[in-house]
Amino acid sequence: MPKTSLPKQLRKVADKDLLAKLESGLELVEQQLIEAVKHTDPIAKVTTRHLIDAGGKRIRPTLVLLCAQLGESTQEKVIQAAVVVELTHIGTLYHDDVMDNAPKRRGVDSAHEIWGNNVAILTGDLLFARASQIVSKLGEKALTLQADTFERLCLGQLNETVGPAEGQDVIDHYLSVLSDKTGSLISASAELGVLFSGADESLREPVRKYGEAIGVAFQLIDDVLDIYSDGQVSGKTPGTDLRAQVPTLPVLYLRQDAKSDSESAKLVEIIDAGLDDDVQLTKVIEQMRKHPATERAFQEAKRWADQAIAALVDLPAGPVREALTNFADAVIERQN
Ligand code: IPE
Ligand code: IPE
Ligand code: MG
Ligand code: MG
Repeated sequence: MPKTSLPKQLRKVADKDLLAKLESGLELVEQQLIEAVKHTDPIAKVTTRHLIDAGGKRIRPTLVLLCAQLGESTQEKVIQAAVVVELTHIGTLYHDDVMDNAPKRRGVDSAHEIWGNNVAILTGDLLFARASQIVSKLGEKALTLQADTFERLCLGQLNETVGPAEGQDVIDHYLSVLSDKTGSLISASAELGVLFSGADESLREPVRKYGEAIGVAFQLIDDVLDIYSDGQVSGKTPGTDLRAQVPTLPVLYLRQDAKSDSESAKLVEIIDAGLDDDVQLTKVIEQMRKHPATERAFQEAKRWADQAIAALVDLPAGPVREALTNFADAVIERQN
């Protein structure tokens, strides 16, 4: 049994031929991911495998494989591109968990909990190094896309950390952070699929738009899951973002409400005072679950998923477009 199978969202792909191609592609990706992090260094070889072995949904490599089906080719380069995006993603997870002080990732202890911050940060860097080595063999277009994506990823995390500039709308700022930190890599995954499939280059733009919008929807659902999820299902600790004072969309909406509603204002005060206490955190999660701000954030996620589906109008009708549409719907329904 492979540790990772096709994301639940895509297992429903109606076209059996397409499904089989995605499954066999993903198996190759798994093998090459393991190959890609082979190290002789005794520490590096353990720490770089930690999150690969822990599982994960593999949505980015799956999008590469799926968009590659817009062309005819089943090139080795498609698999390599899929490995590059997953290695990049996993690298960001090691770093992100340090930044967010997250105790769990993919259902296991996060790397910094086991080895400390320095090892976790350096492990993320090692994965970026390996991703760069592979992408360097894929040609200039892929290399440029990877470098631009990496820059946007860092800027997204940076802007999330420093917050909006003086006078900037907080919601606009937040959505641009999501595009950069999450939309960038998801859209690059879709673009790389087209790039190495031999498909018409004109298809790059619609899948790029799709990826950006689905990335924002995906991340907004992540915000909602921080409040709503069952830790057993999501593999993360609920309330991690609340405790780390990450300005997720539900909390931003709550702050807006707090200007005219005293209950919301009280809740903001409690969050701002810090949620180190577990009982306090559980209470705040319960209150946030009932608060309309969380439902509004969910509706905003749906709007982005609809926007992603709208971008697909420029793709040829067929099983790939259908699978991408189902995937957008499933992102909204996801529990992990
Ligand atoms: C987690 O991404 C980080 C976000 C951008 C929300 P995923 O939810 O795709 O994480 P894995 O790969 O399945 O662990
Ligand atoms: C993660 O964002 C985004 C990147 C890794 C670039 P979050 O911090 O919101 O995601 P989770 O909740 O830790 O997965
Ligand atoms: Mg995080
Ligand atoms: Mg984060």
